[in-house]
Amino acid sequence: MRLRHLALAHFRRFAAFDHAFAPGPTIIWGDNGAGKSNLVEAAYLLATSRSPYSSSERDLIAWDCPHRPAFARTIGDCESHSRPVRIEIRLVEPGGNHSLADPGAAPGPDEPYHPPSVRRRALIDGQPKAIGEILGHLNAVHFSPEEVELVAGPGERRRRFLDIALSQLDRAYVRSLRRFQRAIVQRNAMLRRLRDDPALPRTQLDPWDAEAVAHGAVVIACRLRAVSRLNEALASLDGTAPGAAPIRADYVPSVDLRAINVPDGPYIRGWDEGDPQVVAVASAMARAMTASRGRDLGAGTTLVGPHRDDLVVRAAGIDQRLYGSRGQQRTAALAMKVAEAHLMAEVTGEKPVLLLDDVMSELDPGRRQFVEALAIDTDQAIVTGTEAAVFSDRFRGAASTYRLQHGNLVRA
Ligand SMILES: Nc1ncnc2c1ncn2[C@@H]1O[C@H](COP(=O)(O)OP(=O)(O)OP(=O)(O)O)[C@@H](O)[C@H]1O
Ligand SMILES: [Mg+2]
Repeated sequence: MRLRHLALAHFRRFAAFDHAFAPGPTIIWGDNGAGKSNLVEAAYLLATSRSPYSSSERDLIAWDCPHRPAFARTIGDCESHSRPVRIEIRLVEPGGNHSLADPGAAPGPDEPYHPPSVRRRALIDGQPKAIGEILGHLNAVHFSPEEVELVAGPGERRRRFLDIALSQLDRAYVRSLRRFQRAIVQRNAMLRRLRDDPALPRTQLDPWDAEAVAHGAVVIACRLRAVSRLNEALASLDGTAPGAAPIRADYVPSVDLRAINVPDGPYIRGWDEGDPQVVAVASAMARAMTASRGRDLGAGTTLVGPHRDDLVVRAAGIDQRLYGSRGQQRTAALAMKVAEAHLMAEVTGEKPVLLLDDVMSELDPGRRQFVEALAIDTDQAIVTGTEAAVFSDRFRGAASTYRLQHGNLVRA
């Protein structure tokens, strides 16, 4: 898996950018604000259609884009299973006069102003496609100091980790996840209607329960299998932190799944509702949803299901979110990302591109060495830092090294 060439237009601080990447590790170093994270972000966007740093696509369009409506463009020439593929993502501001400089008519006193949302458009080999179609062409694993939140942050962060990793691997997962999320939105709306109008029969929830269970069970079954493979990879890691405790992640469902056995063996893509394990999860989930109706009605929201599940990341059995030091949490987060890369390689037969943004500055020498070994061992890694000196001579010898200055990569 490789990103051979990256071209940007009006993306973040880059009015224009063009670079051909060599295989193996690429080091990009430069001052704070030089645009290193912008480049990593563009590469990750091509892999997942999302930014690792911002949930608002508007942030990605250059503030000084001279066009109206404003847009940003990222094009990646990639190599996937020895085949070239061109992925393009355009971020397009809707028409009209909604530019950042001229946000249109001022809102009335009680009327909050919502700028129209920026749309993502995807093209594969020049053909317009649905945005979800880009998943799986360029698989990437991203790590940055903020990723400590994967361990230290709220459960939502860990669900997103599983969802993004699985979405890159398994289209059936994406489909089930979307359908489940839609069903929950509908079910929650119905819960609020029932709460407001107690004369309505509770059986109005039945179709949404059925829909949520059918798709939610696939989501849970896929996650269980993925977590079991992540643990396999975590167990095989030595050296994430020399002398550090072994790391494990346990799926904590909001539904009682104690009776469910997760079969050994590789992750299988494309599970469906008829799979025996999915059927077993579905019946556990259906029971839990029925039992939870009273509480759900009180809360006006659905309290059980994969959208409420979590992962507990432990080192030597100790919950790292609660009891890990900041450095231990960072190490555990890094280990999770390495395990994610293993899982991707196992399922797709190709190693993902590693995007390691500014990780060195926060790591001790042993962990830096581990990261360098990882970056050398994969097909392609893009590694950033604020100075060349954070990388060892050996690593610099193995890597293509560039300094990012005034928006250009200069061989260093
Ligand atoms: N939409 C945008 N348009 C123009 N400039 C932007 C936009 N978004 C961010 N920037 C600017 O891009 C610059 C580069 O940011 P980036 O985070 O890539 O730097 P960096 O090299 O990673 O720095 P650091 O070493 O501090 O992590 C910042 O100065 C930021 O203000
Ligand atoms: Mg940065």
